[in-house]
Amino acid sequence: DSAQTIVVAIDGPAGSGKSSVSKAVARALGYGYLDTGAAYRALAWLVLEKGVDSEDADAVIAALDDFDYFIATNPDEYVVRVGETDVTEAIREPRVSAAVSAIARVPAVRSHLVALFRSIAAGVDAPGVVVEGRDITTVVAPDAPVRILLTASEEARMARRSAELQDDAAATAGAELKKRDQADSRVVDFLNAAEGVTTVDSTELNFAETVDAVITVIADTQSPV
Ligand code: DC
Repeated sequence: DSAQTIVVAIDGPAGSGKSSVSKAVARALGYGYLDTGAAYRALAWLVLEKGVDSEDADAVIAALDDFDYFIATNPDEYVVRVGETDVTEAIREPRVSAAVSAIARVPAVRSHLVALFRSIAAGVDAPGVVVEGRDITTVVAPDAPVRILLTASEEARMARRSAELQDDAAATAGAELKKRDQADSRVVDFLNAAEGVTTVDSTELNFAETVDAVITVIADTQSPV
């Protein structure tokens, strides 16, 4: 019964490991998984596809009319579509990452997507759903029984993001990540935990330990000590 689906809200900056941790937590618990950043990226992709200037708020708002969005909520089967087009890979392209912050700061875009996220989460047929993004604990699901801010020092985030890249690419990726976090944090504060939100700092934790820490927070909420 979707009315009883527990929402686990997770926010955090880029490179905090938020997506892979959230997905692993959903898998471990048999929960659904909703990556909200994918919708901002998919809209940015559509805007680029249309040749619209991503800085032109009115044109971006107009693009919402053609934004027929689908995302799978099964953590084992990640797919994102706009209309008939599979954009799962395309939304990770640097040109999309570069355009997405401008789109995410348009208030009409945010309210449209917030409503969409609530409706997708409500449709998940599982005991719970892990919803991950920047404003989930504060705007999308402020009443969620579990709200977590996943942080890591900037150094740790840059190191993780660049671990698989060559030196040059790593430096560029690091600089772009920092730029995007600065732009994004002007719109929603995902660097400080709101009241009632539990901070999980993964700076000193490996992946498995971070997943365990999040699962512990969820378990503690369900049977408080
Ligand atoms: O998590 P991500 O890097 O895929 O997010 C892509 C962009 O979308 C990011 O620059 C900030 C924005 N975003 C947002 O504003 N609110 C969310 N809940 C999720 C993402």
